[in-house]
Amino acid sequence: MTETQPTLKSLAATIAQSAEAITVYLNANNIPAPSFAEDSPFDYPKTPEILGTLFQLIDALSDLQHLILGASDGINFSPIFESHDSEILDVLNQFDFWNAVPLGGSASYSEIARKTTLPEPLVRRVLRHAFLSKLFAEASPGQVVHTAKTAYVAKTPRTRSWIALNLEQIRPATVYLAKSLREYSAGKNSHSQEPLESAFAIADLDRTGRPVDFWTFLKNDPDGKPKGYRANRFAEAMQAISASSSIKPDEIVKLGFDWNSLGEATVVDLGGSRGHDAIAQAKHFPKLKYIVQDLPEVEEAFNSNLPKELAHRVSFQPHDFFQPQNIQADVYFMKVVLHDWPDKYAAQIVNNLLPYLKKGSRLVLCEGVQPESYDVHGNAIIPLFVRRLLSSMDLQMLVGANCLERRLTDWKDLLAQVDKKLEIRNVASFPGAVLSIINIGYNT
Ligand SMILES: C[S@@+](CC[C@H](N)C(=O)[O-])C[C@H]1O[C@@H](n2cnc3c(N)ncnc32)[C@H](O)[C@@H]1O
Repeated sequence: MTETQPTLKSLAATIAQSAEAITVYLNANNIPAPSFAEDSPFDYPKTPEILGTLFQLIDALSDLQHLILGASDGINFSPIFESHDSEILDVLNQFDFWNAVPLGGSASYSEIARKTTLPEPLVRRVLRHAFLSKLFAEASPGQVVHTAKTAYVAKTPRTRSWIALNLEQIRPATVYLAKSLREYSAGKNSHSQEPLESAFAIADLDRTGRPVDFWTFLKNDPDGKPKGYRANRFAEAMQAISASSSIKPDEIVKLGFDWNSLGEATVVDLGGSRGHDAIAQAKHFPKLKYIVQDLPEVEEAFNSNLPKELAHRVSFQPHDFFQPQNIQADVYFMKVVLHDWPDKYAAQIVNNLLPYLKKGSRLVLCEGVQPESYDVHGNAIIPLFVRRLLSSMDLQMLVGANCLERRLTDWKDLLAQVDKKLEIRNVASFPGAVLSIINIGYNT
């Protein structure tokens, strides 16, 4: 790496300059600046004009914090801070603190205790830690109010499912990553390709006494919960995270492929969940018909999500993508599906489409394409924040099912394993976005 070592002064100067540039931009465009208060805008605008500056600011802040903490405090405090920050967010979520404090009002500790069913002294301890992360605030002694972050969860309830996915399902599994690596990957040239050997599977969250892969776990509803509970919550989590990225996946899908060039056409959205992508796209492209294929458990959520006016163009078909495809479509679309599967299984999913691709259809993926982090001179080419997000997604895949976020070369290798005639025609990427559109054709 050729980067010179940053100093307190150089990082502070970057912070001052970027903060100034962002403030000037907001003022010039009459955009209110986010604050910690409940009525704050949820985000800074993620426009191309200031996205780079926002990343510069956040990256410098992160480096500054590491530098100030130094090696010993940095190493010693991070395990305790990170562990309890996650645990407190989990408690707020599981005991629905979000609705125990009224939006636009305040609640006393005893009122919160009543609504969450927790003893008041515990509520005080939980909130004392939460306040430090700008999760709720004590506006006046004994009165708790929402902050921007907690109001966001209260106003976008699907976010609760995203938090639950990460903190109730993935977090306990992360504890088993080292065990999974030790048992199935250590001493080999590549990591295990078996979802049943992943950290999630061996964590066996339901205590069944055997490894359980993530998708089977989702099908097993906990006692006392309605049918499809876990599958629904997972679908909600996917919808929540789709809606919150800086560059909305809807936009990426809309702009990353020339859908209008298809004319009247059928798109199969494999693993399309409750249809949120198909529904959003159907609104933009009135000539396209969408068939969402997913596991039968998701059908009910799809039906409740589908606007009546789109019912003639967007439909659901229960379909297991490990079985041969049964619909001739113009485009087979998959969004963040193949990243869930190690190559061995991802290849089977694509292989099941081959008979139809040969007839001239397209395979369009909306997936992460892990970029190189450094150029040939060793200089960082993508922001630290984006690298952190990409590598967290990659590890989420490793923990969840022994799969991965692929680089372009990994995508090419995967397709070559299925059929050498499959060719990536184009990859459309968008600055600041973690997902790209991979447009794949079949050479006859
Ligand atoms: C990571 S989610 C992506 C959902 C959606 N495409 C999105 O971007 O929000 C993966 C989807 O694959 C579905 N899935 C898992 N195993 C499947 C299978 N064997 N056949 C069909 N769909 C499956 C899940 O139900 C889930 O909806």
